[in-house]
Amino acid sequence: MSIIPFDDRDGVIWFDGALIPWREARLHILSHGLHYASCVFEGERAYNGAIFKMDEHHRRLHASANILGFEIPYTVEQINAASMAVLRENGLVDAYVRPVAWRGSEMMGVSAQETRIHVAIAAWPWPSYFSPEMRAKGIRLMRAPYRRPSPECAPVHSKAAGLYMICTMSKHAAEAKGYHDCLMLDYRGRIAEATGANIFLLQDGVLHTPIPDCFLDGITRRTVIELARARGIEVVERAILPEELANTSEVFLTGTAAEVTPVGEIEGHTFKVGEVTRTLMDAYANAVRNPAEASAA
Ligand SMILES: Cc1ncc(COP(=O)(O)O)c(C=O)c1O
Repeated sequence: MSIIPFDDRDGVIWFDGALIPWREARLHILSHGLHYASCVFEGERAYNGAIFKMDEHHRRLHASANILGFEIPYTVEQINAASMAVLRENGLVDAYVRPVAWRGSEMMGVSAQETRIHVAIAAWPWPSYFSPEMRAKGIRLMRAPYRRPSPECAPVHSKAAGLYMICTMSKHAAEAKGYHDCLMLDYRGRIAEATGANIFLLQDGVLHTPIPDCFLDGITRRTVIELARARGIEVVERAILPEELANTSEVFLTGTAAEVTPVGEIEGHTFKVGEVTRTLMDAYANAVRNPAEASAA
């Protein structure tokens, strides 16, 4: 597989207030965000030239930074406009959009009170997080070697770079064993989510999803709950134990990158890509391209 590195592409990236050539969007190696994970980001998708739930994503970017103790030096409206400019100037209509904010180089100890906050926004085509074949059959999940930490152990409600360390390690462990991703339990041993997406289980015609009290309450998760309820599908948010996989008929993941992705297997438990999953895959695919209809649903 030939890889085109992300630092060597054509186009422009918005960096601290201006669009600059893609390859020039660099930071110094002595940046606090790199050494101490004082960094937050967003993952968004544009469909037909419009970013789905753009305001929500950029409000979450601000909230994530506030949780980590810093302010994004641009308003939500400015980040909205900058994101749209990035799409326009790169000629992108359907794309993944990645805003990121981090502490700079003014201080290099643990304390970072005086660091400047930098913000960048990049966008690129990213058709599907999981391949169409995987999505058709349902992906295979392994039990993650790491658990989601408790709210006393980490800023769990921030989309903070540091929280992804255990996600990358878990995903690599899964890939090493031929799985596509991991099911992560939380610190109590309850089902939490995957490494970059939330999870739903269908049991006796009712959808169940964990309460997001120690992991990201995904924007896609909230959208899918609304879409399901609008279609008369009952959704229950509750604590879910891994033993319950035995009486679960369908499982799917939700996330901006993953959209609605069926799960075919979790370590020996198999699930069909059934009617409820297919209904919500279609409903989500329609909602992202017709957002006005979706919010009226
Ligand atoms: C760890 C994690 N959980 C859940 C989600 C789903 O969030 P959203 O639907 O807002 O993209 C993501 C993706 O951003 C994620 O990285």
